[in-house]
Amino acid sequence: MKPQFSGRNVFDLDDYSREDILYILEAAKGMKEINLREYKKIPTLKGKTICTLFVENSTRTRMSFELAANRLSADVVSFQASISALQKGESLQDTVYTLNAMGIDLYCLRHSSPGSPQLVHKYSGKPVINGGDGRHAHPTQALLDIYSIWEKKGDLNGLKVTIVGDILHSRVVRSNLIGMAKLGAKVTVCGPKTLMPSSMESVYDCRVEYDLAHALHDADVVMGLRMQFERMSEGLFPSLEEYSKHYVLSSQTLKYAKPDALIMHPGPMNRGVEILPEIADGAHSIIVEQVANGVAVRMALMFLILSGSGKV
Ligand code: CP
Repeated sequence: MKPQFSGRNVFDLDDYSREDILYILEAAKGMKEINLREYKKIPTLKGKTICTLFVENSTRTRMSFELAANRLSADVVSFQASISALQKGESLQDTVYTLNAMGIDLYCLRHSSPGSPQLVHKYSGKPVINGGDGRHAHPTQALLDIYSIWEKKGDLNGLKVTIVGDILHSRVVRSNLIGMAKLGAKVTVCGPKTLMPSSMESVYDCRVEYDLAHALHDADVVMGLRMQFERMSEGLFPSLEEYSKHYVLSSQTLKYAKPDALIMHPGPMNRGVEILPEIADGAHSIIVEQVANGVAVRMALMFLILSGSGKV
């Protein structure tokens, strides 16, 4: 049976089956073809209104949602928290009631509080795509990461994926673990003990490693994660130099991975901390392609949720 997407929320990937995810990847492939045309616009969502409701900083996710909506010919309203009535004490609930009164059809939300996408859906009655809620989930980032691997490798089944860095604070890793497991990837997470949740292996289908060489052994895909200094209230490792000494992705450490291993990073990067420029900008890096693929994946989701037809 064809997966149904009309009116669905995207809170995280646990609500999406393997078949749903594969369907989204195929739809994104069609959208990517549109993005490679000289005239990159289709009229599919003409008359629909999409709101990017970002209450936490973002460069790529916000721009990518807005570009995706524009390419599908939707009207886009961009809520900017720093110059909004939130600064005068208006609640999220009243903010959503206000925006909803203007006829929003779909919300793309980023918020520092886990569970805020569910609240926005409750207040609005409209579908919500989660663009990152605190440390909890970042499903569109995971979908674009999965798309980027699928495009290069054809299939994730049996692929060894190693994710290195600040696992504790990463919503990207949580959504990726859910999505990649559904497609059969074997994921290893690696980082210092102080940046590793204690229950990883019991909650997610993954292997935990604290030693980078062991974690990278024979990896097909290596993803670096950012040190999320803004979410750290105390020193979780002695110094950046100490972190880099043990966990930086460099030509030296990547010799343990497969020679053709894909190098990924969701961004923003701390160059020289979790990844060296020689690797971030190297021949096997697909970091820039991840960004491009993000537009296609978000176009696919908007289209599937709002068009109801499912035919790209
Ligand atoms: N990867 C990601 O979520 O980046 P932004 O914070 O720039 O959106």
